[in-house]
Amino acid sequence: MSTARRPLVVLKLGGSLITEKARIMTLRRKILKRLCREVSRALSVVDVVLVHGAGSFGHPQVKMYELDRGIRNRHQLEGLTVTKIAVETLSIEVLKELRKAGVVAMPIHLSSCVLSSSRSEKVELPLDIIRKCLEMGVVPVLHGDIVIDEERGIRIVSGDYIAVELSISLGARRLVFALDVDGIYTSDPKLNPFARMLTELRRDDLDRISLGMGVEMDVTRGMKGKILEAFRAAEHGVEVIMVSGLRKDYVYKALIGELPERCTRLVA
Ligand code: IPE
Repeated sequence: MSTARRPLVVLKLGGSLITEKARIMTLRRKILKRLCREVSRALSVVDVVLVHGAGSFGHPQVKMYELDRGIRNRHQLEGLTVTKIAVETLSIEVLKELRKAGVVAMPIHLSSCVLSSSRSEKVELPLDIIRKCLEMGVVPVLHGDIVIDEERGIRIVSGDYIAVELSISLGARRLVFALDVDGIYTSDPKLNPFARMLTELRRDDLDRISLGMGVEMDVTRGMKGKILEAFRAAEHGVEVIMVSGLRKDYVYKALIGELPERCTRLVA
């Protein structure tokens, strides 16, 4: 049942990649299906922890009830249930597609096993459960979530944070961010046709590029937040790759350690 220790890769599937961010609770099933097959193939080479974003199964709901500002009135509590229904619906879809691709996966919902405290930046993650799953050859699946918080009532935990923390705590070889663009650009490629993709990204570069992408509806800080999070992993020795999940086999290649033709690698 147990697998010999193989390189561990944490994969974060962006919410904008697997859902239509502009249409509430709409899955991009074909893309998700192909990505699950790519994960399945990669499992013969590496162990994988999968983290997915919430996309339109989380961000609009959080925004609607202003959950990102903490709990201030009773009406907002209704949003807890609404958001959880949406996120769990997506999680189930991911699990179903993984299953069809032949991947044995175990969902781990932070909302059920984490009590956070806003006094600390850190959110403790259930590493023991995740390690045990990996030991059994099971792919742990986590997602951006809402958790109960001692001070603020609730807290949004982004999939990016989870992926970065796990890659550091579990000593992952690589952290792969699957995006709906080819990598990190000098400015938003969806708005600026002259935006240039960066093959390598250093912390210093962040002052020179403009990262507006997705900020309006993103309750977890958008692209800039993602990159700042990701640098923490790179600075802990994790290889960090940002790659398009829209291009066939790019995620597969990134998972097994073959650098795809187009991607951004973070340089610590
Ligand atoms: C957000 O998760 C979680 C909720 C809104 C409940 P992420 O921040 O990881 O989602 P994406 O990848 O940006 O969609």
